[in-house]
Amino acid sequence: MLTQDEIKQLVAKQAAELVQNNMTVGIGSGTTIYYLIRELGKRVKKGLFFRAIPTSKKTAALAAAENIPLAELNAVDSIDLTIDGADEIDGSLQLIKGGGGALLQEKMVAAASRELLILADYSKLVQHLGKFPLPLEVIPFGWKQVQKNLRETYQIEAALRLQDDQPFISDHGHYILDCPFDRIDNPDILSYDLNAIPGVVDNGLFINMADMALIGYPDGKTETMNK
Ligand code: 5RP
Repeated sequence: MLTQDEIKQLVAKQAAELVQNNMTVGIGSGTTIYYLIRELGKRVKKGLFFRAIPTSKKTAALAAAENIPLAELNAVDSIDLTIDGADEIDGSLQLIKGGGGALLQEKMVAAASRELLILADYSKLVQHLGKFPLPLEVIPFGWKQVQKNLRETYQIEAALRLQDDQPFISDHGHYILDCPFDRIDNPDILSYDLNAIPGVVDNGLFINMADMALIGYPDGKTETMNK
């Protein structure tokens, strides 16, 4: 039986094979994507040429260490393929992302992509989104007003994400509120409503964005889910 880490390596290896010469590829963030970057690095060493649009500073640093050429989103018109991870995936490929705090840049890169492929181990598959607390990226100024709004509107106590006892700061200088919805029945409506709260930059619901998901299992099998 494969460990969770080995499953991540398995799906990363399969996904790396989809990257072809001269493509522009969005590279997600997180531990699964770490293995993808390592695989792509091996392929670059063997002569593969593509340019990567990273979704976080961490991904940019990991890709640079593998000699993967990087480009900024502003430098390209569109992206051929983005490969990213997820925190939850439902049966219609709706996602919760942002466990690593990179949701804003991840969503912008995904939106600019012709195809979004999600890599995950089977534990990320859910019937209903929401058990994983939904990350909400907020402006630090007045963030407690957003927390109050969520308390009054949804009766939830959103937690300010911390790192070393200090507020976690995203790559774009924002805070993250983790929202324990428990069960999200209408993710598209919730996503729209959350983004309308003053001070909210974006939320971790990725609605109708993923085209495909590659799911890995402990027995070494993988399953492809299509939109
Ligand atoms: C980061 C993300 C990641 O894709 C998500 O948290 C999954 O990460 P991992 O592969 O480490 O489980 O959305 O913002």
